[in-house]
Amino acid sequence: MIKSVSKIVIAILFSFLFIFCGNKTDLKNSSTTNNRIEQKVDSVLALMTLEEKIGQLNQYTSDWTATGPITINPNKQEEIKNGLIGSMLNVLGTTYTRKYQELAMQSRLKIPLLFGLDVIHGYKTTFPIPLAEAASWDMEAIGLSARIAATEASASGIHWTFAPMADIGRDPRWGRVMEGAGEDTYLGSKIAYARVKGFQGNLGDVNSVMACAKHFAAYGAAIGGRDYNSVDMSERMLWETYLPPFKAALDAGAATFMNSFNDLNGIPATGNKYLQRDILKGKWNFQGFVVSDWGSIGEMVKHGYAKDNKEAALQAITAGSDMDMESNCYRNNLVQLVKENKVPIALVDEAVKRILYKKFELGLFNNPFKFCNPEREQYELNNPEHTKAARDIAKKSVVLLKNQNNLLPLSKEIKTIAFIGPMVKPKRANHGFWAINLKDVDSSYIVSQWDGLQNKVGKNTKLLYAKGCDIDGEDTNGFSEAVKIAKQADVVILSIGEGWNMSGEAKSRSNIHFSGVQEDLVKVIQATGKPVVVLINAGRPLIFNWTADNVPAIIYTWWLGSEAGNAIADVLFGDYNPSGKLPMSFPREIGQIPIYYNYFNTGRPADNETNTNYVSAYIDLKNSPKFPFGYGLSYTTFKYSDLKVSKKQMTDKETIEVTANITNTGKVSGEEVVQFYLRDKVGSVVRPIKELKDFQKIALKVGESKTVTFIIDKEKLSFYNQKAERITELGEFEIMIGASSADIRLTDYFELID
Ligand code: BGC
Repeated sequence: MIKSVSKIVIAILFSFLFIFCGNKTDLKNSSTTNNRIEQKVDSVLALMTLEEKIGQLNQYTSDWTATGPITINPNKQEEIKNGLIGSMLNVLGTTYTRKYQELAMQSRLKIPLLFGLDVIHGYKTTFPIPLAEAASWDMEAIGLSARIAATEASASGIHWTFAPMADIGRDPRWGRVMEGAGEDTYLGSKIAYARVKGFQGNLGDVNSVMACAKHFAAYGAAIGGRDYNSVDMSERMLWETYLPPFKAALDAGAATFMNSFNDLNGIPATGNKYLQRDILKGKWNFQGFVVSDWGSIGEMVKHGYAKDNKEAALQAITAGSDMDMESNCYRNNLVQLVKENKVPIALVDEAVKRILYKKFELGLFNNPFKFCNPEREQYELNNPEHTKAARDIAKKSVVLLKNQNNLLPLSKEIKTIAFIGPMVKPKRANHGFWAINLKDVDSSYIVSQWDGLQNKVGKNTKLLYAKGCDIDGEDTNGFSEAVKIAKQADVVILSIGEGWNMSGEAKSRSNIHFSGVQEDLVKVIQATGKPVVVLINAGRPLIFNWTADNVPAIIYTWWLGSEAGNAIADVLFGDYNPSGKLPMSFPREIGQIPIYYNYFNTGRPADNETNTNYVSAYIDLKNSPKFPFGYGLSYTTFKYSDLKVSKKQMTDKETIEVTANITNTGKVSGEEVVQFYLRDKVGSVVRPIKELKDFQKIALKVGESKTVTFIIDKEKLSFYNQKAERITELGEFEIMIGASSADIRLTDYFELID
């Protein structure tokens, strides 16, 4: 009897919901819509048993792919049918997502599943890795890359990407710098914003996915650059450097956040109430939901923060972690914890409501199969328009590090080119880490560097190939063949670097010099006396001093994705003039790490890099990086002139306008990233020697000049003090405009007055 009554109630409720959900796009953002969704959420919640509620907080992976230990649970399918799972990750493709969603539709309340996936740099069309895209400093292109990734992923049944990673990365030993936007908070915040906007578009549209700002928080500061390691930092540092990109993601409307594996000052982020409840859901008023990182609730036991999984579940839910990814701690313990009155039901309800809200917002209650259209999937994946965009941003992501005597661009008339190295022919390498894989990664559609070069040169150019060596290992047997073909060539291009699985999650390295015998290969090729161009493929800054000092031309290609080969060829032959600028400082030696441009001066600054006596310096190495943050060359040159500052004093209610002229003084058109830095000369806490506060990427034809304008306002002058309060202080500020953090071309100053 009870059963049949509840069935009728459910049927009425759902027909009511379906009517309500029709044609709602226009109103989506209005508060009326929010209220309506809230009402619907409440109505569903009222029908749920405790077990069903906790089911919504439970996320499992499929068995296909994993970034951690997989839950041993023989009966995921039964659990879905029983309404005991709210979300799955790593289920992809319209066929599989439909299959799973059909199971959810057999459950009592028919609450749809959410499908999440790490769509980090493209779905089927693979874009450059995020760190590479950051080097483009091109927010439009970065936004478009995320938009296309969302279009393809959503067409393939995905509702939710675990991206962007908003962690600041100042330590290139940490393999996950490849997933982020580099070392700078301002650039990182702009990029986090652009990515969230790109992924989410109009959330609820069929081509949008929910974004997930991760890993909250301070994961990028893992001690020693070792993945998953502890983080110990001041409040001031947390607020000033590590939190702003997350706030930017939130301001862009990020639907979800992911907490992180690390402990922060002794409290694991997953069980960290201060981070999740006080800051995120409190001060920042975040309305979405927080998912744990893979197994991170259960890992609090290993941290030594919880005595068992039950206590870990208690800590996580209390701290504001809404969904449990793959640790089973909620599934196995929350019912009991509620029954024992250790977890108030209100806490569970709050988490469930946050999750249901997003399911409504996505339109899944209205149509659970909304994202399961195979025709759309077929049409969108690797759509030629997407490939075009991938080539565009790949070109923009490349950084020209060295170009002695204008060896580059190469002429298309060259008779013989020797293309040598372990990266020349493989396709998979260009994919980088975080490729989408359904059992196996499909790299068949990736344009290899060899194919890219072949597509570019005419019939009159002969291309010779030798592998030379492997990425790793000591084998130099391939050197003689490489030298032989180098000698027959007019130019040698060497493609070396890191294999796709050398940077990424759990890919920290204590040694970031070129691996294996790759630098020896560079030496023997350079010894032939032929002009040599080195392409460096990597997911992080590497150390390659000999190459940097001896080889005339170096291009940092990172991992560029689907169109790597074509994009590299575009740059090599000048069909695209490189405009990328480094988003991380490149160290000279591992001992300098962590290294970043916006450091404090110390009381004994090493102003002269050769004087190391009783100053803050190494006795065996300069302090400066090998290649600084913001650095990157072009095939043309730019002159910076006519700095004008509208006034020399301002109050915090006023603004100052700063303008400068940039002229293309070279022989080809090009783009320049004009960087605007400020230094707060004296503060109640020590201020960095300079901080990026704005930038503009401009295109200039030969001889053309443009005026760039930067506005200084209170926001640009404020900072966090030791109590994590954002303040401004009166005094003098230095203005610096330049082509990199170390190449300041124009300076002036102004004063903030009362
Ligand atoms: C990573 C997350 C990722 C998750 C799901 C974890 O190991 O830290 O960034 O989203 O796995 O694959």
